[in-house]
Amino acid sequence: MIKAAITAVGGCVPDYVLTNEILSTMVETNDEWIMSRTGIKERRILKGEGKGLSDMCIAATEELLKKRGIKADELDMVIVGTITGDYTFPSTSNVICDKIGAKNAWGFDLSAACSGFIYALATGAQFIETGRYKKILVIGGDKMSSIIDYTDRATCIIFGDGAGAVLLEPTTEDLGVKDFILKADGAGRNYLCMHAGGSVLPPSHETVDARKHYVYQEGQAVFKFAVKGMADVSAEILEKNKLKSEDIKWLVPHQANKRIVDATADRMGIGPEKVMMNIERYGNTTAGTIPLLLWDYEKQLKKGDNLIISAFGGGFTWGSVWLKWAYDTK
Ligand code: UT7
Repeated sequence: MIKAAITAVGGCVPDYVLTNEILSTMVETNDEWIMSRTGIKERRILKGEGKGLSDMCIAATEELLKKRGIKADELDMVIVGTITGDYTFPSTSNVICDKIGAKNAWGFDLSAACSGFIYALATGAQFIETGRYKKILVIGGDKMSSIIDYTDRATCIIFGDGAGAVLLEPTTEDLGVKDFILKADGAGRNYLCMHAGGSVLPPSHETVDARKHYVYQEGQAVFKFAVKGMADVSAEILEKNKLKSEDIKWLVPHQANKRIVDATADRMGIGPEKVMMNIERYGNTTAGTIPLLLWDYEKQLKKGDNLIISAFGGGFTWGSVWLKWAYDTK
């Protein structure tokens, strides 16, 4: 049976560091509040006119291709999980393929907010498992600074910019994407969304004046749904596959809030030494958090390690993926 294995990882975070101290000069907040409520110390922001999501995705992809020793024209497909693509259309996938020379690939952007990467990973895995494609690039990333209101202290402290990429290839070994559970509840759109810019409320002077092109979040409500959603689905995937907490080498949780991650790990009976975390340095990069964790922890991963990847985000969308890591890093 063919399985989809991750065979390489790449990542990119922009150079500019937006610290809690700098944010304290922009809105009424402080390092102590942000650290104790979220676990975030700093986040990266993509600066520069004309720079968009694709710039970070391309840097991540180029690193990945180099590590794997392959050329862009060997890619069959490029899926980009994001809510901040370069344009409403065409897709960022198309922009990336053009700029890197992925002449033989097709692809699309996938909108599932913070669950964008796991939705894209599960989707890409299907095209490998059927035997149709051999090399699929799955990217998760967001330029959240393009949709954040830096006068709103409830949201501007959380989000950052970044992108990560993984390559999916077929394997007949007992490795790769073993199972996934993906969920959605559209009623969640009331708690976390961007009101304007789509076909319901196209851009106008009024929508801009009313600050409707920024992330709207009812933090406490989302927090409650996220804690329950991420903890429940992570426990469910263990149960479904008869896995025990001691079978799991790493929990790879979406980095929305350290308190949500801690609750998920507790529920799974997983100690902090097995939980990947980088929220302190990057904040919440939406679809970028999970591939950026894999990028940061790649050297610690061993062939055969069981990973549970979990996310919860806007939509609402959430889910878990059980993945067996496929290689040792030299
Ligand atoms: O990744 C996608 C999914 N998103 C999430 O998972 C986010 C889920 N939500 C959260 O992580 C948290 O709800 C937040 C981090 C957004 C907020 O933390 P909280 O503990 O839920 O705070 P709160 O909204 O209940 O606010 C508590 C107090 C309020 O003051 P009063 O009304 O008690 O006087 C806020 O006005 O903290 C105040 N506050 C702040 N104070 C200092 C809100 N933001 C700030 C701030 N600095 N940045």
